[in-house]
Amino acid sequence: MFEQLTGHEDPHPIYERLRALGSLSGDGGLWVTTSHPVANTILRDRRFGMRFSDGSRPVNGSLLAESFLELDPPDHTRLRRIATPAFSPKKIDEYRARVEKVADALLDRDEFDLIGDFAAPLPISVISDLLGIPDADTAEFADYGALVAASIDTGVTAEMADANDKVLELFDRLIAQRRRTPGDDVISSLVAAEAEKRLTPQEMLSTLVLLLVAGFETTVNLIGNGTRALLDHPSQWKLFKANPELASAVVEETLRWAPPVHMTSRIAHEQVHRIGKDEVVTLLIAAANRDPEVYPEPHKFDVMRVHKPEHLAFSSGIHYCLGATLARMEGEVAFRALARRMPDLRQTGPVVFRDSVVIRGMKSMPVSRS
Ligand code: HEM
Repeated sequence: MFEQLTGHEDPHPIYERLRALGSLSGDGGLWVTTSHPVANTILRDRRFGMRFSDGSRPVNGSLLAESFLELDPPDHTRLRRIATPAFSPKKIDEYRARVEKVADALLDRDEFDLIGDFAAPLPISVISDLLGIPDADTAEFADYGALVAASIDTGVTAEMADANDKVLELFDRLIAQRRRTPGDDVISSLVAAEAEKRLTPQEMLSTLVLLLVAGFETTVNLIGNGTRALLDHPSQWKLFKANPELASAVVEETLRWAPPVHMTSRIAHEQVHRIGKDEVVTLLIAAANRDPEVYPEPHKFDVMRVHKPEHLAFSSGIHYCLGATLARMEGEVAFRALARRMPDLRQTGPVVFRDSVVIRGMKSMPVSRS
């Protein structure tokens, strides 16, 4: 049934067919769950992790596969701890005014592409700023981010291998520069940790690639999917425009109803009930977010909804998204800026969807201010 998934169509009918098979289904060592409590339990259970017992991963090849997103404790714990201070709520709050300025400048136009001209440049500019990437290099890093995200579906291509070499060169240059003149950015803090032997040069690079890619390709789709949901649900759009303090509620309902990341997976380190050692469970985040056992009228986009328990858009357990506070803030700023500057925003042409089953969203959506 999984093979029928494409990046273009609504996958929820297929998820519902899987849900009808039970909260955990599968055979031949491949399991799938659509259930919120089952997915949440597996994500929090230390008997499940990212690696097979021989240390390998189901999909390999990109630098992302070497990052702490794909590692188990104790390495995961050590590397995540080094990156965490850069994402503290206090740091993110200090960023808010800068993000508001970027969003405002991007909206100085009448006819534009919601993705290419707004939803993508905003997070790209924010994460480049946070990592300390100079403006001159931003476009190249952005292209690379898009390629790595595509490789999550397609595996590593020759194009990807070339891009890997290029981005490593760029990071090497930035790292060398920070060794000479440390600053207040994430690269400088990783360089300092490396000097103290808390991580290897290779781990420093894969951490930078993770932060770059995780910040680029997901937040774009939070902003894109949320704006589209609001325009497709005029009563919700009207409610939000009259009550801008609902921005964070719009973010949460978008993350539940149209999450940027539709699925993840875990490997059993030992036999757990029916799941054998080294067997893989696919956790359908997007389906868990519409579990009728947890959310009443789960297919309804309703910004007034009470989110208890929290949706799984940012995962759960030890790999819970490190950038969640930042992504939420960017989403709030983006939705609020659109409501204020573009109250008559309307779609002017057909949407083009991304060609991906894991990271879901649009490639483009032409819109007009009036
Ligand atoms: C991990 C989603 C934005 C950095 C994750 C995971 C998900 C996720 C689902 C965990 C995957 C798993 O458990 O298998 C999202 C969504 C975002 C977003 C939906 C936007 C709406 C960001 C941003 C950053 C970021 C802006 C910052 C640079 C990370 C990192 C991890 C992660 C570093 C790895 C955490 C770990 O393994 O401990 N994200 N993310 N994310 N995310 Fe995000």
